[in-house]
Amino acid sequence: MPKLLHVACSPRADSESAAGARAFLDQFNKVRPDWEIDALNLWRERLPEFEGDVLEAKYARIGGRAFSNAQRDAFAAAERLALRLSLADRVLISTPMWNFSIPYKLKQWLDLIIQPGLSFRFDPAQGYLPLLKDRPTLVIIASGSDFVTGMNRGRIDMATPYLREALRFIGISDVRFVPIGPTAGPTEPAHAAREAAHRRLVDMAVRF
Ligand SMILES: Cc1cc2nc3c(=O)[nH]c(=O)nc-3n(C[C@H](O)[C@H](O)[C@H](O)COP(=O)(O)O)c2cc1C
Repeated sequence: MPKLLHVACSPRADSESAAGARAFLDQFNKVRPDWEIDALNLWRERLPEFEGDVLEAKYARIGGRAFSNAQRDAFAAAERLALRLSLADRVLISTPMWNFSIPYKLKQWLDLIIQPGLSFRFDPAQGYLPLLKDRPTLVIIASGSDFVTGMNRGRIDMATPYLREALRFIGISDVRFVPIGPTAGPTEPAHAAREAAHRRLVDMAVRF
């Protein structure tokens, strides 16, 4: 059964990024009822802290050393997360923008899955090489500022270039971004931004 992995990164009940993901997935489920949705909520599922054995496992692998038993056990959690991504035929990431970039839980997930031998490898002659196959990926980013028309009032968007590069590094280049914003401030522009983004997402779900 083909699979879509949904990585959900907002802790809010009234999340705008989650509402955008719902609009997209409702339509996606209609046009592809046979697809399985693997929902990974980064605030509900326990992600290991990236320290201790799992961190030392990364350095062991980079240094060409065998894992200790503790490192192998700790690394298995990162392997399971990376496997969920590599088994997905489509990926949806819905996330808030926090302090110009992504929430720390999404960064933690990336720190766990961007591992040598799991999602990239290093070749002395060729440099860094991705290990994941490319696949259509959609990133929904909700922000208080308006990055659609550029009314960002002095705040910049480092989430989009960061995620584009992090995903490209492991092999995922077919990535489309849908910003939702402004989500804060006067009601009317926020409402219009939500409506426009949802229309776009429903439209994209048909061909995704
Ligand atoms: C900790 C924190 C930092 C934020 N930083 C930014 C920012 O740098 N730029 C911005 O436009 N909005 C910022 N916001 C506003 C959120 O992006 C906005 O509320 C968005 O709707 C959150 O997504 P969600 O509704 O899916 O949770 C921030 C919000 C929080 C809680």
